[in-house]
Amino acid sequence: MATGRSVMRAVRVSEFGGPEVLKLLSDVLLPNPKENQVLIKVRACGVNPVETYIRSGTHERKPALPYTPGTDVAGVIEAVGAHVTVFKKGDRVFTNGTISGGYADYTVAAADTVFPLSDKLDFKQGAAIGIPYFTAYRALFQKGHAKPGETVLVHGASGGVGIAACQIARAYGLKVLGTAGTEEGMNIVLRNGAHKTFNHREAGYVDKIKEFSGVQGIDVIIEMLANVNLATDLQLLSPGGRVMIVGSRGPIEIYPRDTMMKESSIIGVSLFCATKSMHECQTALLAGVEAGWLKPVVGPEYPLEKVAKAHELLINSSGALGKMVLLI
Ligand SMILES: NC(=O)c1ccc[n+]([C@@H]2O[C@H](COP(=O)([O-])OP(=O)(O)OC[C@H]3O[C@@H](n4cnc5c(N)ncnc54)[C@H](OP(=O)(O)O)[C@@H]3O)[C@@H](O)[C@H]2O)c1
Repeated sequence: MATGRSVMRAVRVSEFGGPEVLKLLSDVLLPNPKENQVLIKVRACGVNPVETYIRSGTHERKPALPYTPGTDVAGVIEAVGAHVTVFKKGDRVFTNGTISGGYADYTVAAADTVFPLSDKLDFKQGAAIGIPYFTAYRALFQKGHAKPGETVLVHGASGGVGIAACQIARAYGLKVLGTAGTEEGMNIVLRNGAHKTFNHREAGYVDKIKEFSGVQGIDVIIEMLANVNLATDLQLLSPGGRVMIVGSRGPIEIYPRDTMMKESSIIGVSLFCATKSMHECQTALLAGVEAGWLKPVVGPEYPLEKVAKAHELLINSSGALGKMVLLI
């Protein structure tokens, strides 16, 4: 074994259920990298809402049990498979594609889903790139066809995907409006690309957005909570405007006629469908790191031992302030 150890700490899920099914074990076998894979010593792992849905068993994706959650890690290369030439032991890297799970001391990933971690970013920031930034890029450009000069509303801008969307949209020349549920969240959104912020917990905030965006309206809405906002989003759009459904946690009633007068589109976004266009996302995002505008904002941090608490608080947040990460 490359590390000189055969076992490690890892969170294991042996049955679907609440946060309590996340068990930290200390005798999990170290994964072995295959020919085109690398073994990463994990330093930080992003916690994404989808990991809570999968853990609960309510998601379409159900991994075979037992499994280790987590896809977005940053760390140091520990060992490489026989065919891997682009990385060597000791390289700082991040990935959004762990194979054996990221809530662990070590994880394996296919080398082509692993990227060098710039000196400009620490491990926590590296772990905050994966799902949030790839999703934000896909929603804005690959599905939403946003263009420089257009106006985007990031509806739920204070969390992982929202801050990513604000940074990317600003860098690409859009006019950026963002919402958060707290003053502190609004300030973070303002410092990360938004020209103007609104509080989505304040009565009448939609009217304020309407007033601010004027008769032209909003070209693209990146929606984090469609089951609450979709009906009012349709009132905010410009002619030909698009609502991108990134997040939704339940049903909502809308009036389909509301899409007719402005020929509005409601478009679903799923990173799971993005396999063929990942290269474009990767290139754009790595250029953003190099240029300096891609700077993940790290929010709550928890040690691996507190993983159940982390899952509970991610879903019952009193106000997001950036991306939640586990420290390994
Ligand atoms: N489709 C995909 O491929 C994909 C990929 C990644 C994520 N997602 C989904 O996208 C959503 C956001 O993910 P995330 O990682 O950014 O989660 P997160 O870090 O937990 O952030 C959640 C965001 O939702 C905001 N929010 C809360 N109430 C809201 C409301 N009434 N209206 C609008 N926004 C509201 C929060 O704002 P405050 O806390 O400030 O109130 C926060 O900005 C989740 O539902 C997630 O499952 C989907």
